[in-house]
Amino acid sequence: MTRVVIVTSLKGGVGKTTVTANLAMTLARKGHSVVAIDCDLESRCLDMILGLENDSLYNIADVLSERCTIDEAVIRDSRCDKLSFISAPAGITDKESEEFATTFSRENVDKLIEGLTGKFEYIFFDLPAHPDGWYELLLKHTDYALVVAMHTAVSIRSAEKTAMTIGEVCEKIGENSILFDEDGDVIEPKLKIRLIINGFRWRDASGGVRSGVYDIISKTSVKLLGIIPYDENMASAQESGKLAFQITKGEVPSKTAFANVALRLDGAGVPLLSGLLDKKTRRKVL
Ligand SMILES: Nc1ncnc2c1ncn2[C@@H]1O[C@H](COP(=O)(O)OP(=O)(O)OP(=O)(O)O)[C@@H](O)[C@H]1O
Ligand SMILES: [Mg+2]
Repeated sequence: MTRVVIVTSLKGGVGKTTVTANLAMTLARKGHSVVAIDCDLESRCLDMILGLENDSLYNIADVLSERCTIDEAVIRDSRCDKLSFISAPAGITDKESEEFATTFSRENVDKLIEGLTGKFEYIFFDLPAHPDGWYELLLKHTDYALVVAMHTAVSIRSAEKTAMTIGEVCEKIGENSILFDEDGDVIEPKLKIRLIINGFRWRDASGGVRSGVYDIISKTSVKLLGIIPYDENMASAQESGKLAFQITKGEVPSKTAFANVALRLDGAGVPLLSGLLDKKTRRKVL
């Protein structure tokens, strides 16, 4: 079974690419075949965060414009052969950008997903902060929309707006709309919209400066899938193409947090903060 996952937020810089790269690698290291696709046509960076810069000849725009085959655009990670990657173009002009909008037909996106289904268990799409036409092209196929927010009230509100926008686009394209049974209860459609809080600040949560976990769960309309701590070593690791599983120092291991989210995405009933913090701190953070 193939699961299509989009990683999104209408806000920039909240960690969409970081979450995509690390979840994709974590699942691949657990033995799943995974492909991660960079959809940020104007400012790609998944290649850098994955440490696969300069490795690809073709990109997602080439595939969707039928300038190359899917196989020609897919490259493999040298650290884990279960992880594959399709890059975004290296910098496009406004004219090209306009061309993409017309050449990225639904038909070509359908063909792409059809071509990847069967080869991969997980297909991740790392979307830009302005997803423009991507929602209309991808939501029909999407199993999980992972909405990423930072640990601030403003960012969490923006995640709710993102979820609403996804719902509106689903209605517009007549796919994945929310259904109700005879009793008026919501039947969950194929598409599951889930929240990931990234850059979670434990001390602020336990000190009451920022929302605790229960607070987020009870006040947010989007279901919480996972929490990724603020990791002071993340930015420097990314400078050298390292992912969370390669970060060996630090107070709260983001590696464990990504493992928890990956397991939950894969359907396992892992507690949100499993393996993170001691019991006393955990209680305070909740
Ligand atoms: N959990 C984390 N702890 C510490 N720093 C983080 C964490 N997650 C992301 N960052 C840092 O935040 C910055 C933005 O991350 P990222 O590029 O993943 O965001 P984005 O949402 O994809 O941005 P854009 O909207 O530009 O595509 C990066 O410098 C990254 O190192
Ligand atoms: Mg990004």
